[in-house]
Parts: sequence; structure tokens; C-alpha cells
Amino acid sequence: MEFLYNVLTVLHFIGWAIVLGGYLASLRSPGLYRGVFHGAATALVAGVLMVGVAEMGGVWGDDGPDMAKIGVKLVVALVVAVLAFVAKRQGSKADNGTGAVAPALKHSLGVLVVINIIVAVFW
Ligand code: HEM
Repeated sequence: MEFLYNVLTVLHFIGWAIVLGGYLASLRSPGLYRGVFHGAATALVAGVLMVGVAEMGGVWGDDGPDMAKIGVKLVVALVVAVLAFVAKRQGSKADNGTGAVAPALKHSLGVLVVINIIVAVFW
């Protein structure tokens, strides 16, 4: 169980790295890297599975993370995934072929991912 938990943790980190890296790499272009949605979906699913595997397999023992923290991260991550999905749709519909997405959409996504990293580490 601990091995599976560790595999999911690696996927969780790679997924969020794709989201943050994709956002940063897209800062100077009108679009958003299309892989961002897939990174968010992968990391979100991995995170939820981590909680299930840890609870079932006793990976955390008596001192697992605060479930309120997991709840906050879950809500923020769901918003990030929805924003990434909307951005992917917007980008492919942009009629001048630039893949442009609304700047507010893109930057909200970037800010929320950073907020969740801070929540994950400091809470
Ligand atoms: C934007 C969203 C998210 C980001 C950026 C993120 C980031 C992180 C980071 C940096 C860690 C390592 C924390 C540490 O070791 O001190 C972590 C751990 C973890 N994450 Fe996430 N995460 C996100 C969403 C989620 C979601 C939605 C879930 C589950 C519903 C989740 C479940 C976990 C679990 C179980 C751990 C390990 C236990 C812990 O230290 O809290 N994460 N995450």
C-alpha cells in the first residue's frame, strides 16, 4: 500500500508541475499550454486516490493530514481543473488561430495553483 501511495504522490507532483510549468511557459503567449488540463486532472485524481489508499492501508497511522486541509485543497483543485478545461475549450475555439484565452482565466488558474502549494506545505 505504501508503494502505491508513493506512486500516486509522484503522479500528484508531476501533475501539478505540468499545471504550474504550463502556466509559466504560457505567460508571454496569448494561449495556455493544452497539457495543463490533463496535468490538473491527473493530479486531482491522484490526490483523491492518495487519501483513499492511505486511509484504507493505514499509511498515515495516527497522524495524517488535517481533513479540513484536504477539503480546501480539493475545492481549489476542482476550480483549477474547471478553469483549465474552459481554457482548453476557449483556446481551440479562438477564431484567429492564436489559441488565445481570457487573461483573467489564465492568471486565476496560476494564482490558485500557487495558493494550493502554499496550503499543502504550510498547513
Ligand atoms: C492545486 C491543487 C494541489 C496542489 C498544488 C497540491 C500540492 C501538494 C504538495 C506540494 C504536497 C506535499 C506537501 C508536503 O509534503 O508537505 C501535497 C501533498 C498531498 N496532497 Fe496535494 N495538492 C493539490 C490538490 C490535492 C487534492 C485535490 C488532494 C485530494 C483530495 C490532495 C491530496 C494530497 C495528499 C493526501 C498529500 C499528502 C499528505 C499531505 O502532506 O497533505 N492534494 N499536495
